[in-house]
Amino acid sequence: MKGLISAKGYCDSGLFASEEELLFERSWRFACVLDDLAADNDYVVVPAGRKSVLIRNFKGQLRAFVNVCSHRFSQIHCEPRGNGPFRCPYHGWTYDSAGVPTGIPARPKFENLSPEVICGLALQSVALEQCGRLVFIRVKESGPSLREWMGEYFSILETMTDNMGREIGRFEMELACNWKIVVENTLEGYHIGFVHAETFAKLGLTFGDYGLHGMHSHADSPFDRQDRKNHDFLASFDARPVHTKGYYHLHIFPAFLMSTSHGIVYSVQRLDPLALDRTRLVSHLFHREPDPGAKIKPMMMGILHEAACDFNRKVLIEDQVVCESVQRAVGQTNSVGMLSDEEIRIIHFHRSWLECMGAIPTEAAKKE
Ligand code: FES
Ligand SMILES: [Fe+2]
Repeated sequence: MKGLISAKGYCDSGLFASEEELLFERSWRFACVLDDLAADNDYVVVPAGRKSVLIRNFKGQLRAFVNVCSHRFSQIHCEPRGNGPFRCPYHGWTYDSAGVPTGIPARPKFENLSPEVICGLALQSVALEQCGRLVFIRVKESGPSLREWMGEYFSILETMTDNMGREIGRFEMELACNWKIVVENTLEGYHIGFVHAETFAKLGLTFGDYGLHGMHSHADSPFDRQDRKNHDFLASFDARPVHTKGYYHLHIFPAFLMSTSHGIVYSVQRLDPLALDRTRLVSHLFHREPDPGAKIKPMMMGILHEAACDFNRKVLIEDQVVCESVQRAVGQTNSVGMLSDEEIRIIHFHRSWLECMGAIPTEAAKKE
């Protein structure tokens, strides 16, 4: 079967601008894990389409706003995360938990700063909801709740995050390619034998079940390797509530990815489309603790954590090479890709993309 997004869809700056508005400002977007906002005054900054969004902890309450000062439009928080007062670094305006500027240096020097005017200077608020230990935001004021957006994946994700253990590593990289190339790469295992010959392929990952729900999809692929060492390792986590066939991978449209190996090691990934051909990937890795009384020693856990982080980094770099190669080539054609049955989730992703992009005609849609 043929894909539904033509090559032009990955290298057309007009389409990219539309994606920012129609996908990344209207959809629920994964921002961070709750641990990043655990303390009062913790903040996180995340891009969402054309906006930068800040999320803050106000004495336990999480709120999100567009990251633009009402005075003369400086970014209020410039770092991706931190802890500190809700204060603009330019002239020192401070804001309250409703986004209203309550501290204005040399206030009498401003004419007409009545309480009504000050209320009108409140920051633009952004919708915020949680799914388990994950924080999501949506720039567009109205729309479906996060639960409605995710459908049946909401409770699956909730259970996964409740049982994923502690974060053991975080890895950020910038890929010189369109964000859709990165998403599509994660939606199929067809490339594993070639691209991940020394990593994933060694685990004997095979094509298993998949599901397409709403705009999202998942796959649950068994590992072939069932040796003694593996058996002993799995036995140490027998009480885990999440039992997958092997490698379970979930894509929440447009750009959130979560996976787990056996319900023991978890990967949470956010993609930030920085430009038409530039994508930042933020990868968090979590590892569940062994069952009480399990034979695994704490020192062994340290080695396992290190190995998991190392493996994750290697796989991401292997994927980066092919994703960037696609970007370099895709501008030289205007055809539509051929997809195998194993790449069915990509077709589903294309359909979701077309649905959200609405009337914007792609080359593929024009041909149909
Ligand atoms: S721009 Fe923020 S206080 Fe002036
Ligand atoms: Fe891959």
